Amino acid sequence: MANFETVVVDTDLLILGGGMSACGATFEAAYWAKKKGLKVAVVDKAAMDRSGAVAMGLSAINQYIGYQAGDNTLEDYVKYVRQDLMGVSREDLVYDIARHVDSSVHLFEKWGLPIWKDDAGKYVHEGRWQIMLNGESYKVIVAEASKNAMNQAGFTDWLYERVFIVEPLMDGDKCAGAVGFSVRENKFYVFKAKATIATMGGAVHVFRPRSVGEGLGRAWYPPWNAGSTAYFTIRAGAEMTCQEVRFIPVRFKDGYGPVGAWFLLFKSRATNAFGEEYMVERAGELPKWAPYGLAKPIPANLRNWLGMEDVMAGKGPIYMRTEEAIANIAAKYKDDPKAFKRKMKELESEAWEDFLDMTISQSLLWAGMNIQPEEKASEIAAAEPYFIGSHSGASGAWVCGPEDVMPAEYKKQWEPLGVYNHMTTVKGLFSAGDGVGASSHKFSSGSHAEGRIAAKGAIAYILDNNTAPKVDDATINKLKDTILAPMALFEQHSAMSSDPDINPNFCKPKMFMFRLQKIMDEYCGGVSSQFTTNNALLTRGLELLGMLKEDAEKLAASDLHELMRAWENTHRMWIAESHLRHVMFREESRWPGYYFRADFPDMDEANWKCFVNSVWNPKTGEWTMKKVPIVNLPV
Ligand code: FAD
Ligand code: ADX
Repeated sequence: MANFETVVVDTDLLILGGGMSACGATFEAAYWAKKKGLKVAVVDKAAMDRSGAVAMGLSAINQYIGYQAGDNTLEDYVKYVRQDLMGVSREDLVYDIARHVDSSVHLFEKWGLPIWKDDAGKYVHEGRWQIMLNGESYKVIVAEASKNAMNQAGFTDWLYERVFIVEPLMDGDKCAGAVGFSVRENKFYVFKAKATIATMGGAVHVFRPRSVGEGLGRAWYPPWNAGSTAYFTIRAGAEMTCQEVRFIPVRFKDGYGPVGAWFLLFKSRATNAFGEEYMVERAGELPKWAPYGLAKPIPANLRNWLGMEDVMAGKGPIYMRTEEAIANIAAKYKDDPKAFKRKMKELESEAWEDFLDMTISQSLLWAGMNIQPEEKASEIAAAEPYFIGSHSGASGAWVCGPEDVMPAEYKKQWEPLGVYNHMTTVKGLFSAGDGVGASSHKFSSGSHAEGRIAAKGAIAYILDNNTAPKVDDATINKLKDTILAPMALFEQHSAMSSDPDINPNFCKPKMFMFRLQKIMDEYCGGVSSQFTTNNALLTRGLELLGMLKEDAEKLAASDLHELMRAWENTHRMWIAESHLRHVMFREESRWPGYYFRADFPDMDEANWKCFVNSVWNPKTGEWTMKKVPIVNLPV
């Protein structure tokens, strides 16, 4: 389109995203880039201060090892993640993040993040790995530190905010940067880089959410992460792993408030409508999922599964027994009325703060529903599926591990490309956070640490491959036409109807999203299918996705905001297809509570204790799927 200026940015290192892992990458890059005389550019679709999953703040840091103090060992954490993911994790990646995560947390504290301390000056733990904080400003503090590091290192014009990245830029089979557009001005951006870190979070709204018309957009996972990292890495031809391992969080119903503090800190029970505790009543189900079902802590998906069985048996609603938990804690003070009153006040304010720090809407819902947690239990429910490789899901790219810990079997794959920590199977393309698969439970702190690891790997790659990428103008012009096509289509046909949303020549992004969500919900085990699917449903779903993909060319956008929406939904569609293909390939049920294959209702350790990896070939458009062995660390 003639009225779109093309802005070309030449850099050495390109960091895509401005979230926790991008902040870690930027902080690390500032140091190394200055030392080595390299340029860095960071691109975020939003504003770094409040972008990504930590935008609203958090009430806990979920990964802290306490390694130096001897509280836990790195091996303990590897075993924890192995157990929680039903045996499926890249233990070299988990180990590497674990050995660096505490230093990220100590930096956060130095930068001013108020972490709770006890009288002895030690962090207050929510659970074994989780520490409590007053985290409303968590993201602002972490982003500011990264910005300060870059500015103090003397870099200028390095931050591009409100620029939406659409597609990788390729130089043969090497990643040469990225293209996107400003969501505020008519500008098409071309970022040429020697190494690129794709770290644009996971994905939400791929599945039909529980809140549709009335609360559309209200979900647990932040509405602005739409699968851009997965799209970017898949389209570059990178190998993906664990794309079947979605995450279903059980949350306070409709507001999606966190449950961790209630279960771990307040020691609350969850019970059904008849007062029965599913974790106790249904414990007999756990041996079926041995060895994971029999070890502690019981994996998140199995905890979900037992609650879901109650719901399927018609025993809902399920309640978080906040009133009982608060009463139990306060009971210790019952002989001293003054101390009792003080403790009740303290517990009440901690309960509200937990939500106010990270899920403000849940406190609004409590207020709107006349809920006082010390008086009344609150409903909890399983949310719709999300893709969040940094939490208790595991989807993402298959990346190179650290040289000293990575099993030889994995290292072989990178030897011809170059062994650079966190490089995907595409040269010059790195990832972190939600973008990296098979290394769950890194959360906010681990994602920051992983961003730092990826930046170090990418800088090492640049120093060894210090040549400017070659991309011809014809390729760039073609990408520009494709990316702006939804606006051109709208301009061409919109006069044909009086309602801009209804037109025989195009489809608006919102309708397109509804269609995608309906397919995924009904055929790929969403909320309305009780998270259950089978091969016949998946086959039909894939057929319908194929038709949707054809119609993606008919996406139309009336303005820049809708152009972003159009591409967000294309990104979602690709992560959806990748997910469905993985679910279809893995012929067992390993993570009941996340999804259930009714045609393969058991876990099959003999045949499926492995990673499922896939590659989309950019030249042929074909997908290949394979099993990859799990190599455990000797812990
Ligand atoms: P994010 O931090 O989400 O960052 C993604 C970035 O990519 C954003 O800046 C976004 O604007 C940008 N982006 C997206 N698409 C594009 C695009 N196309 N172009 C350019 N930029 C783009 N962890 C804890 O430790 N404790 C907790 O209590 C906790 N609670 C959580 C509660 C919720 C509701 C959620 C969703 C997560 C929680 N986590 C918690 C986990 C933590 O937030 C994540 O692990 C972490 O944010 C992942 O980092 P990331 O960099 O991969 O993604
Ligand atoms: S958060 O991302 O919104 O903070 P949540 O509050 O559910 O998640 O959980 C925080 C942490 O507590 C995570 O590490 C999660 O795995 C853990 N957790 C939550 N509930 C339990 C439980 N019942 N048992 C063991 N760990 C739990």
